[in-house]
Amino acid sequence: MLRKGWVGIYRQAGLWVLPTLFFLLQGLATAQETSDCMECHGNPNKVGKVARIDHDTGEIKVVSMLVDEKAFLDSAHGRSKEKFTCIDCHGDLSGVYGEHDPLLKPVDCITFCHDDPAAEYQEGSHVEHMKEKEKRPPTCKECHMGVNSARETPVKDDKFHRAYINKNCGNCHEEYMYTYCTNLHGQLTSLGECSTEVANCSDCHGGHEILKSSEPDSMVGEKKIVETCSKCHAGADKNFVRHVAHPKFKRPELYKGILKALGERDIKKIALDPQSYLMLIFVAYMGIITFTFSSFGLHSLLMWFRILQEERKGEEGHGHH
Ligand code: HEC
Ligand code: HEC
Ligand code: HEC
Ligand code: HEC
Ligand code: HEC
Ligand code: HEC
Repeated sequence: MLRKGWVGIYRQAGLWVLPTLFFLLQGLATAQETSDCMECHGNPNKVGKVARIDHDTGEIKVVSMLVDEKAFLDSAHGRSKEKFTCIDCHGDLSGVYGEHDPLLKPVDCITFCHDDPAAEYQEGSHVEHMKEKEKRPPTCKECHMGVNSARETPVKDDKFHRAYINKNCGNCHEEYMYTYCTNLHGQLTSLGECSTEVANCSDCHGGHEILKSSEPDSMVGEKKIVETCSKCHAGADKNFVRHVAHPKFKRPELYKGILKALGERDIKKIALDPQSYLMLIFVAYMGIITFTFSSFGLHSLLMWFRILQEERKGEEGHGHH
């Protein structure tokens, strides 16, 4: 009775345990881990550099297939508590072990993960303006590029990322990039330190949705500019934000504009534009510098003539004797 009972229990257990074990083992076997991919992608003897056509720009470039796992773990996705594995993004390799097709689909950042920021960006007026001007809007990967690969999506404080955003904006807004670099923010940034403390283009204008400064909801519009500057300048007020973020005194456009306004006798326009005063200061400063150095130069020149003259006189006197 008792023995029979035990057998029964064994039988019962067998019924459950075996299938459970089977499923567990099968589960272990199919759960693709990062290590499954790193077996090749972490080994320089198995993967190297290959030529690829860039999905975004169409350019041919040489890409390393070697994956720096540490850099990935440091990236926005690597740090995330979601514990992303390689196939979460490279979906076409799900269930594929070992060797795989050399060409895969580009990773889709939008459909399953970031449709919200994508809509905000793609349907915003900024992208619309780019299309109107027949400029190709940068893709997600271009603004969120990592040092070695788009795979290493940087966190938002990352210095490389912040400098890269500036570079992207500057590709289309050369003039504003130039004037930004005339300003203290840009000067500090171009010294190579694009730290979170110094304003880059997006700190003042935003990243996905960028509006013209004349629009009320723009980050540098009348309503919000104090808030924007206060992120870094505690106690910024209406007076503080009159600071000129893009000083144009080294740009010919400013002088042409002022001459045009003068021609039209539109003195009010000139008087109300803070750029005019910066220009005056700049011109006065250059005037003083030019005056000082040219007087100095003239003085040296005269001195030199005099020395020459005296030397000649001396020589002439010598020759007589
Ligand atoms: C057996 C070795 C091996 C394993 C395992 C492996 N790969 Fe690869 N992978 C390669 C090689 C080799 C290339 C480069 C192909 C070529 O020569 O063009 C490559 C290329 C790639 C590419 C670039 C594709 C493209 O279109 O440019 C990606 C992405 C990739 N692998 C991801 C993965 C992921 C994710 C895993 C794990 C699921 C993985 N690989 C596992 C060897 C491997
Ligand atoms: C958060 C998404 C994401 C994860 C997770 C991810 N990758 Fe990628 N990976 C990308 C993107 C984006 C690219 C750039 C190419 C593209 O747009 O498809 C890329 C490119 C690659 C390439 C081609 C070389 C290059 O730098 O362009 C390889 C190889 C690769 N990944 C392997 C891996 C391996 C191995 C893992 C796991 C350790 C992994 N990836 C995890 C997004 C990811
Ligand atoms: C013109 C550059 C640019 C482009 C293009 C761009 N972003 Fe961003 N994105 C930014 C900036 C700037 C931020 C602000 C924080 C930072 O600097 O990372 C940001 C923040 C984010 C964040 C952080 C979370 C959030 O919403 O605050 C996500 C996620 C994101 N972007 C996804 C995307 C996706 C997906 C795309 C493609 C549809 C995209 N981005 C295109 C510049 C860009
Ligand atoms: C692919 C080209 C391109 C890139 C990259 C780009 N812009 Fe623009 N941007 C434009 C165009 C085109 C306009 C429309 C006005 C014009 O013709 O200059 C515009 C307009 C603007 C405006 C005025 C608002 C408006 O809607 O007219 C601001 C501010 C601006 N961009 C800032 C930025 C910043 C900051 C970045 C980087 C995060 C950036 N842009 C990246 C092309 C670009
Ligand atoms: C300290 C904040 C700040 C930074 C940093 C900054 N801007 Fe501006 N930007 C402004 C303000 C304020 C205006 C409006 C007044 C003006 O034109 O000077 C403006 C105007 C513009 C305009 C003209 C359209 C408009 O909205 O009036 C463009 C384009 C622009 N900025 C692009 C850039 C780019 C590109 C960068 C980075 C290279 C950048 N800005 C960095 C504050 C900033
Ligand atoms: C991301 C942070 C950040 C933002 C946003 C920012 N700034 Fe700055 N700004 C700095 C830093 C850092 C310096 C250089 C150190 C310093 O002198 O405070 C600086 C310097 C300045 C200076 C030089 C004078 C001074 O304070 O020594 C002015 C003026 C200025 N910023 C105005 C503005 C205005 C106006 C805005 C908003 C349109 C703005 N900043 C937005 C970080 C920022």
